Amino acid sequence: MKQATLHQLKVFEAVARHNSFTRAAEELFLTQPTVSMQVKQLTRAVGVPLFDQVGKRLYLTQAGEELVKTCRAIFENLDQFEMTVADLQGLKQGRLRVSVITTAKYFIPRLLGPFCRRYPGIDVSLQVTNHEFILNRLNDNADDLYVMSQLPDLDITYEAILDNPLVVIAPADHPLVNETNIPLERLAEEPFIMREPGSGTRKAVQELFDARDIELKVQLDLGSNEAIKQAIAGGLGISVLSRHTLALEGICNQLTILDVEEFPIERYWYAVYPNGKQLSIVARTFLDYLLTEGKDFAQKTALRRTLPPAQSNGTLPPSAANSEDQGHPVDHPPAS
Ligand code: PGA
Repeated sequence: MKQATLHQLKVFEAVARHNSFTRAAEELFLTQPTVSMQVKQLTRAVGVPLFDQVGKRLYLTQAGEELVKTCRAIFENLDQFEMTVADLQGLKQGRLRVSVITTAKYFIPRLLGPFCRRYPGIDVSLQVTNHEFILNRLNDNADDLYVMSQLPDLDITYEAILDNPLVVIAPADHPLVNETNIPLERLAEEPFIMREPGSGTRKAVQELFDARDIELKVQLDLGSNEAIKQAIAGGLGISVLSRHTLALEGICNQLTILDVEEFPIERYWYAVYPNGKQLSIVARTFLDYLLTEGKDFAQKTALRRTLPPAQSNGTLPPSAANSEDQGHPVDHPPAS
């Protein structure tokens, strides 16, 4: 192992995480032959194969799996060391890797602005992805912090940031607009647009309807909240989305929230990290920022930006007129 370099370990870890030389090359901005060469040299230094290739698929050997764990421990220790040195120098500098659930893109990037201006030495990498991919990244210990709405059954530490209710969204001229407490069965008669498999929103909707043994008329699956909003506005059907997805102006005057029984489905955004993970100083600073100033900011922007348009009768549906919309603080469940 003496000849192995840190660079080779980084390349190897990326290949193992993506299970692909090509995707590792893309992530690292290297060519595919360079990636193959680095892994080959590392394999030679280790002395036993790190991958088995069966057909087109790559499988880690047992030695490969052990080396992945070792690499991650090394990188984490090095990050920690970098942070400690930076802190010793009185600087806040280093790297911050955050993965957030799709709906959090409506506030996290806005929070990053002031944070990056305050700590210009910090390099931020932000991944926006669905529930399943966040879980994969959490399992791989790929980031410093995660923002998600459904807490996984894993050994984690979490803190609630803000409520993230799921609501039923329809075109503004939908026949059910003035109805109240619409039964779920009635909703099932409408063409429905569903998020893609792996989405937490989809899971929550499915759980609700399965529990009542009601089958939805799913017209199409779409992999993005914005695409679903466009499809609703285009008259393709109704859907269930986070109320915060109404945050961007423009299309929102073509959409409305329906008052349906069992809705909104109350959920929260949580800042999450694996239990026992030693947060870097930068990650700790960002988490503190998220839970103090960030939380205030998110609450205020959510207030200003998620009010749906007035209904044809000039009132907001009850699902939209909750305490957050009225400017009252919401009660969050206790942190772990
Ligand atoms: P999703 O999650 O993008 O996986 O549907 C969204 C959310 O949980 O807010």
